Amino acid sequence: MLKQLKEDIQAVFARDPAARNTLEVLTTYPGIHALIMHRVAHELWTKDCKGSARLLSSFSRFATGIEIHPGAKIGRRFFIDHGMGVVIGETAEIGDDVTLYHGVTLGGTTWNKGKRHPTLEDGVVVGAGAKILGPFTVGKNAKVGSNAVVTKEVPPETTAVGNPARFITKNKPKDDEENRRRDYAESIGFQPYAATQDQSDPILDGMRVLLDRIQLNEKRMNTLCQRLSLLDPTFKKQQLNEQPFSDEELKIIEEAKRECEAQSSQSKA
Ligand SMILES: CC(C)(COP(=O)(O)OP(=O)(O)OC[C@H]1O[C@@H](n2cnc3c(N)ncnc32)[C@H](O)[C@@H]1OP(=O)(O)O)[C@@H](O)C(=O)NCCC(=O)NCCS
Repeated sequence: MLKQLKEDIQAVFARDPAARNTLEVLTTYPGIHALIMHRVAHELWTKDCKGSARLLSSFSRFATGIEIHPGAKIGRRFFIDHGMGVVIGETAEIGDDVTLYHGVTLGGTTWNKGKRHPTLEDGVVVGAGAKILGPFTVGKNAKVGSNAVVTKEVPPETTAVGNPARFITKNKPKDDEENRRRDYAESIGFQPYAATQDQSDPILDGMRVLLDRIQLNEKRMNTLCQRLSLLDPTFKKQQLNEQPFSDEELKIIEEAKRECEAQSSQSKA
């Protein structure tokens, strides 16, 4: 217990530049007070002294403004900065080296019993006022921006911001497919796509699908034009009057025509 307390105090020095000495941390940090009381309340809860555990956590809430249900599982070096208004539900699970700021809720969205609060893996940071609601996982080292409202799983190493939260994954290696899409998007002057390629967002995912579809349809149209110009030599002229061909399309049609002529001269010979 003492070893754990030492680690918890070290975590304050590591994550709060304003912390000056151990006495100050022990006497003026509500996050530390709430954590000490929670560790005792959780012991009581697991030893089936549920009434005493609830009483202690209610006192802790009164004294610190931080409400942690005694059933919540909390790992090592947990730090709640400022603290006021933090709520941690009964079935929440928190890994090691997690940081919460004031006003954070780790809450549920159902009145049913069973797992209904989130699991925060090691190294997660949750900004002031963020709400994480539901029995899903926030992956290792993920960050949740202040005031974000998160209602679905957050992948590891990801930043979730906004309401509803959108995910930002930095330094994601771009694969060939992604590069092809970006080049195509830029070639048709589709700037917003290129500007937001690092973000995972349902609208952007939809745009990716549309871009692939447009590219496929263009290929099909080019092939059809090729075939039609072979069947009907006036086709190219008619099309020019209605909707001019692009340089690329004209090149394809010319190539197809040359191939066709070569083939027909071979068969004549
Ligand atoms: C999210 C956070 C952790 C920053 O993470 P990051 O990975 O460094 O993200 P960036 O600063 O590069 O921002 C990435 C994008 O998210 C946006 N963003 C950052 N924080 C945001 C927030 N809280 N709400 C909405 N959007 C936010 C940025 O504007 C940027 O948008 P853009 O790509 O359109 O320009 C930080 O902004 C945050 O909210 N920290 C909590 C701090 C806190 O609560 N402190 C309380 C001290 S008392």
